Amino acid sequence: MLTAVPAPYADSEARMNELRDPLDATIVFVDDEPVNLTLLGKILERAGYRRLVPCGDPRAAPGLLTEHDADLLITDLHMPEMDGLELISTVTRTRSADDWFPIAVITADVSPDAERDALSRGAKDFITKPFRATQIELRVENLLRTRILHEALRRHVDHLEELVRERTFELETARLDLLERLALAAEFRDYVTGRHTQRVGELCGLLAEQLGLPAPEVDLLRRAAPLHDVGKIGIPDAILLKPGRLDEDEFRTMREHVDVGVRLLAQGQSELMVLAEKVALTHHERWDGSGYPRGLSGDDIPLVGQIVAIADVFDTLINARPYKPAWKLETAIAEIRRKSGRWFSPRIVEAFMTVLADQPELLARLERESWEDAQNGRPIGPPFAAGNAF
Ligand SMILES: [Fe+2]
Repeated sequence: MLTAVPAPYADSEARMNELRDPLDATIVFVDDEPVNLTLLGKILERAGYRRLVPCGDPRAAPGLLTEHDADLLITDLHMPEMDGLELISTVTRTRSADDWFPIAVITADVSPDAERDALSRGAKDFITKPFRATQIELRVENLLRTRILHEALRRHVDHLEELVRERTFELETARLDLLERLALAAEFRDYVTGRHTQRVGELCGLLAEQLGLPAPEVDLLRRAAPLHDVGKIGIPDAILLKPGRLDEDEFRTMREHVDVGVRLLAQGQSELMVLAEKVALTHHERWDGSGYPRGLSGDDIPLVGQIVAIADVFDTLINARPYKPAWKLETAIAEIRRKSGRWFSPRIVEAFMTVLADQPELLARLERESWEDAQNGRPIGPPFAAGNAF
């Protein structure tokens, strides 16, 4: 059975075949001698061309080309007001590189220099007088057919580029969608409302912006940060949902969510996955070296890990968890300040305070969501003992 041509390509082929009739093309022709203009007009009219724009003053020609959206310029060379060569240069300079616009010269000047000059400035054809009418008809038709084919080719390329853009956008959207859902899947294990990961991403973006990171890096971190706890997928329910305080062994297992997350995200091919892996690995490190898994301290902790650490702890504090009620904003802010220089980089704590101070509407929304989640979000399992989260 024959395979049908895929629709987009069939469509492109159809577009390729939509060629204009050359007789519908617009031709501007320039000559300072009225008799020459009349003669050329008659030849073109007899050939069937319907859109003819005669021009006796070369200085007006560039404007006429634009005004009539012309497809061809025919010009004399030696004219008192403006030299034909100058006109060719002016016109070619103003056309875009991908617009194949034909210019033909008709002249009594048979010198090789004139022909070379005209062609080197961008003329596509050079016809010397005396000429036969059929010669003009054939040359004009050739030039117009070439222009029309170029147009069709350009439409075809534009169309294919648009298809590639659409497909790339779809793929990118699907990829980001999957990553968001992966982050949510991990969050749903122990916290059902699912907005924590989004807020951590948002807070990290604002904080990165405040710290002066370039916009593409800010955007990347905003998308990567929600994956910080993706490794919780690999933590057994008995530990993740255990009531009461975790013992030392259980806490060791709980800490393995970092390692699981890194293994899940490892060897990513995209910038986003590489950054998400770095975030998963370093979001529990602490400024004073008391964090895990590697006990890094100070600026040995990658900046993105330092940023996510603050956003993650802050959002956890101001929201209810199975093991604790939501803290008031002021108390959580004071706690972040208290941990400055211990858990968190003082510089980033200061930037975080600026973000919160500058955005009262953000604080109001965080407070509202915290209240809504406490009403609607049903924490899974019995209450944890305080301290299991960090
Ligand atoms: Fe974590």
